[in-house]
Amino acid sequence: MNLAERIKSLPSSPTLAMSAKVKQLRAQKIAVVDFGLGEPDFSTPDCASKAGIEAITAGFTRYTPSGGIKELREAIAEKFRKDACLAYDVSEIVVGCGAKHVLYSVFMALCNPNDEVIVPSPYWVSYPDQIQLAGAVPVFLPRCRDDNYQFSAEQLDKVTSERTVGIVLNTPCNPTGAVYNEKTLEAVAAWAVKHDVFVVFDEIYEKFVYGAKHTNIATLDSMRDRTIVVNGVSKTYAMTGWRIGYAAGQKHVISAVENLMSQTTSNPNSIAQKASIEALKKGDESVRNMVEVFSSRRGVVLAELQELSGFKCSHPLGAFYFFPDVSHYYGGEIRGRKINNSVDFANLLLDEAKVAVLPGCVFGDDNAIRLSYVTSVDNIKKGFKQIKEVLG
Ligand SMILES: Cc1ncc(COP(=O)(O)O)c(C=O)c1O
Repeated sequence: MNLAERIKSLPSSPTLAMSAKVKQLRAQKIAVVDFGLGEPDFSTPDCASKAGIEAITAGFTRYTPSGGIKELREAIAEKFRKDACLAYDVSEIVVGCGAKHVLYSVFMALCNPNDEVIVPSPYWVSYPDQIQLAGAVPVFLPRCRDDNYQFSAEQLDKVTSERTVGIVLNTPCNPTGAVYNEKTLEAVAAWAVKHDVFVVFDEIYEKFVYGAKHTNIATLDSMRDRTIVVNGVSKTYAMTGWRIGYAAGQKHVISAVENLMSQTTSNPNSIAQKASIEALKKGDESVRNMVEVFSSRRGVVLAELQELSGFKCSHPLGAFYFFPDVSHYYGGEIRGRKINNSVDFANLLLDEAKVAVLPGCVFGDDNAIRLSYVTSVDNIKKGFKQIKEVLG
């Protein structure tokens, strides 16, 4: 049986592949320090878990409206009001099976064949593939560490063509941890208005900022109606397995997304919807605790990285990732292994140091690796000790 062309070139998610590799090693009783994960190592807030259990016992286990129940959409609207002074009607909010599914549905709703969507690089792994699945073309806008991954109107103009229909922004950023400043966001806003294009604004790490300010681009002049804001409960409330994400934007776009969902997923999980309402309403304290812990771990990782002279690092102000440049080691040999790229380097760390990281090539930068700090300080120290033993 022949496979469709769109699937033949589609790689599986490299982040999930690394996590499977770690699980395999652990099944063989090999201890691995995992800096590869992209999910908080915290429990779902009790209030959310209890609401999930109550939903089951109350029999709230049937189909719901495709774009999520009204009560959840209202809680999301309230969140936007509280966090960003943005007013959305419930008809301007849609809930899907995780932010990943919502993003895919948004690209499917907004892109025609051969449209171009700008993707600032390094980028979250799924954007280019999702844009391609929607028939469009991802056009990369290179950003660099020395500019703290900000970019200017001139850089944007260089990658804009008559086929450009929009841009996807992610701040705080996976994998760099960078947080867009107002100057960058204002440049994007002015550009979007000038070219009459959309902005998909993925703020899934919005709460994870360390001394930086997160700004939602929809709050800038003339931007509310050309922005589709995407967010979810996965990272904010340590609810990755519950699979609830959402988008807010113009009603006709949101209706189109909901329509697509009605034909693909029917609805997001009913129990998870009830749990998410409680998380959004009462989860603030657990978020604060989590961010405090991440902030102190971030300091530990920064200090460790500064001891590794071969690692060039920025000071990420958000998310829970570092994205150091390790190209210093390329062209050389370590423990009898040739190191020529980020995959070689990640494999070296996994096989020799028993530390899992992700190769930067999957995020569009082969000179870097992604390290996450969703593990205890003891584990972080242990992991770096093992890395230093291998790198000498
Ligand atoms: C930037 C970014 N957007 C979206 C997602 C998807 O989140 P969810 O688990 O809600 O699908 C992730 C998950 O890693 C992410 O890093």
